[in-house]
Amino acid sequence: MVGAAMRTVEIAPTFEGWQAAARTLLREGVPPADVRWREIATGQQPSLIAEPVTPAPGAVRVPRQFLDIARLAASASDPARWQVLYEILWRLLHENHDLLKTDADPGVRRLNALAKREGEGAAPFVPPGAGLAELRAAAARCTGCELYRHATQTVFGRGPADARIVLVGEQPGDQEDLKGAPFVGPAGGVFDRALTEVGLDRERLYVTNVVKHFKFVERGKRRIHQTPRMSELTACRPWLEAELAAIKPGVLVCLGATAAHAIFGPDFRLMQDRGRFAATRWAPRTIATLHPSAVLRGEDEAQQARLYGILLEDLRLVAGV
Ligand code: URA
Ligand code: SF4
Repeated sequence: MVGAAMRTVEIAPTFEGWQAAARTLLREGVPPADVRWREIATGQQPSLIAEPVTPAPGAVRVPRQFLDIARLAASASDPARWQVLYEILWRLLHENHDLLKTDADPGVRRLNALAKREGEGAAPFVPPGAGLAELRAAAARCTGCELYRHATQTVFGRGPADARIVLVGEQPGDQEDLKGAPFVGPAGGVFDRALTEVGLDRERLYVTNVVKHFKFVERGKRRIHQTPRMSELTACRPWLEAELAAIKPGVLVCLGATAAHAIFGPDFRLMQDRGRFAATRWAPRTIATLHPSAVLRGEDEAQQARLYGILLEDLRLVAGV
């Protein structure tokens, strides 16, 4: 029987290429075992051209989650991915609509492994041209570096999409990790106090971090913040880029050296170069200042007051534009 009904399907090696072919195959009722997938160079004419899709009455509904996972899996490099995708799709429609919840299923496992893309950075997870709401939802599923494994959740930026001012910190801390929002712990307390003092309304600002997952080591019951590595900064960067591309702020404020290096480059010296606006490709007015937690780390009260004064001075410039 092998080969009797075998179909070779040529597709452009993209999610869309696979999807078009899969729709045609489903409509014709071709089971996965009868399909052999072959990739052709993009631009060549695929052998199976899907008609424009108008869902028939009672048309099959694929769980949204499948489409998200399938998109990620499609951008993996394993040549078997098209077959894996079609098998799962077929089973979702013919066997079990809730199949994806069955983590132990070998097919589902394989699909999830293809979609995980750990170590590749955030880029495969970022929906191109997306607005903030869509970016936030996608970031919640990011596994682009290993930091997602131990953290509670992705802490995406917060604030209105039309914010004129964006502030960027380093990465969420313990409280931020638990609450899912940036600058809501002790550093957030300093931050809020300073904003109020210079007359900036936090509700109108967009606040985010260079890295979106909390990195820590456990010491007894405490979780101690660890500075992100260069590889993690690089991995997570596409999220910040996407946030800034969606918002296009007039003013961009780097809080601390990590954010300043991410935006101004590695030669930026925070204590020398802070407190001055410069144009960058992200905002016509970009400036760096101290990180609010640097104030908390000041040795004594006098030092803390001095550092807080610097933060205020720089934020006053921001409030004045
Ligand atoms: N420190 C940061 O850099 N960001 C936060 O969100 C909290 C603390
Ligand atoms: Fe993704 Fe950034 Fe979290 Fe790494 S730290 S998993 S790149 S969101």
